[in-house]
Amino acid sequence: MKILVTGGAGFIGSHTVVELIKNKFQPIIVDDLRNSKSFIIDNLYKITGKKIPYYAIDFGDTLKLSEVFKKEEPRGIIHFAADKAVNESINNPLKYYNNNLCNLVNLLSLVDKFKVQSFVFSSSCTVYGVPNSVPVKENAKIKEASSPYGFTKQVGEKILSDFFKTLPNSSLAHLRYFNPIGAHPSGLIGELPIGLPSNLIPFITQTAIGKRECLTIHGNDYNTLDGTCIRDYIHVIDLANAHVLTLNHLFNTAENLILNVGTGNGASVLKVVNRFQEVNNIKLNYKFGPRRPGDVPAIYADNSLIREKINWSAKFTLDDCLEHSWKWENNLSH
Ligand code: UD1
Repeated sequence: MKILVTGGAGFIGSHTVVELIKNKFQPIIVDDLRNSKSFIIDNLYKITGKKIPYYAIDFGDTLKLSEVFKKEEPRGIIHFAADKAVNESINNPLKYYNNNLCNLVNLLSLVDKFKVQSFVFSSSCTVYGVPNSVPVKENAKIKEASSPYGFTKQVGEKILSDFFKTLPNSSLAHLRYFNPIGAHPSGLIGELPIGLPSNLIPFITQTAIGKRECLTIHGNDYNTLDGTCIRDYIHVIDLANAHVLTLNHLFNTAENLILNVGTGNGASVLKVVNRFQEVNNIKLNYKFGPRRPGDVPAIYADNSLIREKINWSAKFTLDDCLEHSWKWENNLSH
C-alpha cells in the first residue's frame, strides 16, 4: 500500500520510512532537502535494501506534487514537511504561516482531488503551552501558543479536523509528539541540525565531540526535583512506529484521532546530561545559565489513549536514545 511521506528525508520522516517498509507499506518520499541531505536517501537504501521512490520537490509546489499524486496514487499520507524552529518563527512568522499552513491547505486540495483515504499529521505537545497539570492528556485545554510555530500546529490541527469532517470515508490522526531524540542504531540516519542547534540532544553531542565549547543548561531554579526543566524524551524509532500503527488503525476505521506520543516518563535536563556521560563514558563540558524564554517548566505525556487505541508503547530507554545519538554524531563527524 502506497504512503506519501512529505519530509521523508527528515529526522522523523526517514526513520518512519524504514518502519513503513518493515511493515510492508510502500513509502513515496517527497522532500526538497531543505532540512536534510541526499546521503540520507542513500543510507535509507543501505538500511532497507529497497529503492524508495523519491521526489526532490517542495511539497508546496502544488503543480509538481499533483504529478506525483497522479503517478503514484497514494492511499495514505504522513505529513512531516514543515518548518520547526521556534526562534526563527518569532522572527519570520510569515515563513511559518506560509509553509506550515498555506501549503498544508494546498496539499489538502490534492487529498480531496485524488481521494486519499488516510492522513497522519505531525503535531506537537507544544499545542498544550504551559499545561495546568502533568502528565498531560489529549483533552487538556489548548492554551495560547508561545510562538508562531506553535500556533501553526494548533491551526493545522483545526484545518485538518474541519476538512476531514467533510470526507465521510476518510480518516485522520494528529500525533502530538513529545521530544523525539536518538537515531537509527546503525548510525546511518539521524537528526541533521542546521547551524547552532537549539534542541538539547544535538547540542550535547556536538559539545561532546568538540564542535561546541560548552553546553548551557537553561535554568536550574525551576520548581522541579533538581531545578532543571522536565521533558518526555522519546526514541525516534518508537515515534516512527506510532505512525505505522496509526496508519493500520486508520485504514480500518473512519475515525479522527488525537494521540499523544510520549513515553509517559519525565526526565530533567540534568538527568539527561548525567545519563549521557554515564552511558557513553564521556565527560561533558556544561554550565548553568539563565532560563530560556518560553520554556515550559515540566511536561510529559499521559499516553493511556495511544496504548489503548493502537496498542503502542515505547520500547527504547533513555539510555538507548543517548547511546544512539552519540553513535550518529560520531559517524557524522568522521
Ligand atoms: C522545542 C520547542 C518545541 C518543539 C521542539 C521540537 C521551544 C520552547 N520549544 O521543545 O516547540 O516542538 O523543540 O523538537 O523551543 N536545553 C538546555 N540547553 C540547550 C538546549 C536545550 O538546557 O542548549 C533545555 C531546554 O531549556 C529544555 C530542554 O533542554 O528544558 C529541551 O529543550 P529542546 O530540545 O529545545 O526541546 P523543547 O524546548 O522541549
